[in-house]
Amino acid sequence: MDKATEAQGSDAVYWDPYRPDIGENPYPTFRRLREEAPLYYNQAYDFYALSRFADIETHLGDIETFSSARSDILEFIKEDIDIPKGMFIWEDPPLHTVYRNVVARVFTPKRMNDLENQIREYCARCLDPLVGAERIDFIADLGAKLPGGVIGMLLGIPDEERDVVRERVEAALRTETGKPMDVSQATYQGEGYEDYLDWRAKNPSDDLMTTLLGVEFKDETGTTRKLTREEVLIFVNVIAGAGNETTSRLIGWTGKILGDHPEQRRQIAADPGLIPAAIEEILRFEPPGPAVARYVTKDVEIRGQTVPAGSAILFLLASANRDEERFPDGDSFNVHREGPPHITFGRGIHSCLGSALARVEGRVALDEILKRFPDWTVDTQGAKLSSSSSTRGWDTMPAYTR
Ligand code: HEM
Repeated sequence: MDKATEAQGSDAVYWDPYRPDIGENPYPTFRRLREEAPLYYNQAYDFYALSRFADIETHLGDIETFSSARSDILEFIKEDIDIPKGMFIWEDPPLHTVYRNVVARVFTPKRMNDLENQIREYCARCLDPLVGAERIDFIADLGAKLPGGVIGMLLGIPDEERDVVRERVEAALRTETGKPMDVSQATYQGEGYEDYLDWRAKNPSDDLMTTLLGVEFKDETGTTRKLTREEVLIFVNVIAGAGNETTSRLIGWTGKILGDHPEQRRQIAADPGLIPAAIEEILRFEPPGPAVARYVTKDVEIRGQTVPAGSAILFLLASANRDEERFPDGDSFNVHREGPPHITFGRGIHSCLGSALARVEGRVALDEILKRFPDWTVDTQGAKLSSSSSTRGWDTMPAYTR
């Protein structure tokens, strides 16, 4: 009996991404996976999973074997849905290379860092009215607003439209508790952006949408051309889809983790120079996207077992981030941690294009929160974990501001 099959025995480790009792705290299960079944097979949902840092780092880079062309979300891979051209997060080279290069040219770290002051003002507008309040909610009051607001800033979308965008994207990713995602509800085409795009085409500015409409690139046939209207809409949808819920979760986790570690929170409040390290440690400790999935294009041997062509495999980033071989005392939150970086933004050709933006948002949000609320206690009863299977985090994160 091979190890992957053996793991199905009665006292063998069991993990699935839909069980709320496991999802509440998956880390003891991840530890067991790393120790007992580093290549794990889940029979109920028919997928493999890798949980050790070194395995994930090695195999995520093997893009010929582990394809993104059927999506990086398990449910989508299993359904073999049609993916429109231009959804570069779910494409392999050469198309991925062409499209990512175009987006990377216009979606620059400089453009993101230039937003810092606007992000700060946005946080102040959200938080100032709460000063003096007994309770705040890290999600409702900031996490749910800021990422959509920032994507709106990037694209040049007026404030009033921004919440609509976020709600649509979140609704598409939501799962019913204990069940896989309903892929029929997914949206890709950037609905809701069309009117704005047409208006922007006639009213150019210095925003990302205008830049995308004007950029010239060499496509996969070698033709130099501009992006089509459909391609721009899909790009915008990829960016909004990838950057909204994830960053909202980061803000929720910031509230939760620093609520649970008041000593460290006080140190950060006393020395804001610790904020960047705190955000990195929060990202390691509770990654908003706990896993990425891939489709296996050919038989591959991992840890002495064959993973057959046609399988789906999950790379458990959240487990890798706690792997003791990489992160000594990995289950402890420590803002003074030194050592190698986490894998929360993925690795290789698909690694997060918005990581600089997510970091700016996380840093500025924490700074502005601490300036107004240096102390808080999480209202554990009122906090509600989300039922999404592609991101992990809080739908509500209320706290008492002492
Ligand atoms: C804390 C927040 C975030 C986390 C944890 C996160 C995580 C990730 C991860 C793990 C991937 C790799 C997916 C894969 O390998 O299949 C990814 C890709 C991506 N992310 Fe992020 N992300 C965050 C924020 C953002 C933001 C703010 C944006 C943009 C506004 C963004 C845009 C993208 C894009 C466009 C890709 C696809 C890159 C490609 O396929 O070449 N992300 N992100």
